[in-house]
Amino acid sequence: MLANKTIVLGVTGSIAAYKAADIASKLAQAGAKVEVVMTESATKFITPLTLRSITSRPVVTDMFESTTEFSIEHVALAEAADVLVIAPATANIIAKVAAGIADDMLSCTVLATKAPIIVAPAMESNMFQNPITQENLVKLKARDFTIVEPGYGRLASGKVGLGRIAEVERIIGTIKQVLGRSKDLAGKRIVVTAGGTQEPIDPVRHLGNRSSGKMGYAIAEAARDRGAAVSLITAPVSLPEPVGIDVVPVKTAAGMKEAVDKVAAQADVLIMAAAVADYQPKTVAESKIKKETTSLTLELVRTPDILAEIKGNFLRVGFAAESEDIVANARQKLERKQLNLIVANDITDPTGGFGSDTNKVTLIDRDGKVESLPLITKREVADKILDKVVGLLNKGARVL
Ligand SMILES: Cc1cc2nc3c(=O)[nH]c(=O)nc-3n(C[C@H](O)[C@H](O)[C@H](O)COP(=O)(O)O)c2cc1C
Repeated sequence: MLANKTIVLGVTGSIAAYKAADIASKLAQAGAKVEVVMTESATKFITPLTLRSITSRPVVTDMFESTTEFSIEHVALAEAADVLVIAPATANIIAKVAAGIADDMLSCTVLATKAPIIVAPAMESNMFQNPITQENLVKLKARDFTIVEPGYGRLASGKVGLGRIAEVERIIGTIKQVLGRSKDLAGKRIVVTAGGTQEPIDPVRHLGNRSSGKMGYAIAEAARDRGAAVSLITAPVSLPEPVGIDVVPVKTAAGMKEAVDKVAAQADVLIMAAAVADYQPKTVAESKIKKETTSLTLELVRTPDILAEIKGNFLRVGFAAESEDIVANARQKLERKQLNLIVANDITDPTGGFGSDTNKVTLIDRDGKVESLPLITKREVADKILDKVVGLLNKGARVL
């Protein structure tokens, strides 16, 4: 989604300026056209040459450098921008922008652009927590600037505190989220479930499955990038928490049902990508089960069926992990669960499925249309599913 986007990256005079190189590099690798504007102070921390080499674009540092190529740049970049990101943002640039001052190329571009603006503050905690800085940030938020809040950590002074620039992944996630606002899922509420539920046996053991959560997380991120408001109900996974998504952690099938019941009522689409346990131990031992007998029998009972009782006028998308008769079995599940679309997964295929970054799926809708996709990344699968979802929403297909 970053491909062919023009991202103006404003870099200011913070010790965190070196992080701009990482941000620029990741954006450029994703196919974005990155136009860097540096303040004079920023050039004391990192050279324009570094950023020019990373982006393969000229770096603007001086408003009055009037070569043919750059002569109108103080408005040209503002107009070309799909998004303007100031990372790192000093207390100084935040104050200038809040006051409407335009005395260098970056502050001029900020005032001149109609593109969304993202600001990632980086400074000593006293500077950040100073009421003046805080008031300036409130002003920017009121003007629809998106602030990527700094974190707590080691600062340039050697002290530990609040003011450390947000992680690069967080800044890039925010850029994607902001760029997604005008996309085909703008204004839609999408609930995604992900991960494998864990059904407790005793205080230290559970019954689980091999779901990594990657497919569900990819769908949630793709939906966010296409402008949806996304809730992600997730069983335990070892994936980083996605940015700009309302994440609801759960553990068991029963916990997932409770969370889905709560959030799905208002949703336009429910996508059940989680591997929900079919059975749970009938009783959970209060203390750790001891290794005393040669065998142990666990009695299992059915877990609640999340889709069976849920009410609401939303589109339902399910997953079917199958090892044989994939299309026929998935079709049956589509009928049984009253889904609008089912994504059938061949779990015997070693190249896709559990844990991997790729997947090979077949999409089946209620009109009987069957689309077998090649082995592609989970993110690409996610976008294919969402293409179908957009088509179904446009057709007015909802609960059946
Ligand atoms: C070593 C050093 C590190 C600095 N780090 C920061 C910082 O992280 N955040 C900040 O707001 N200012 C920092 N400053 C102060 C700014 O560089 C100064 O306010 C400057 O005027 C900012 O200019 P600019 O906003 O035009 O880039 C630092 C200054 C020095 C000398």
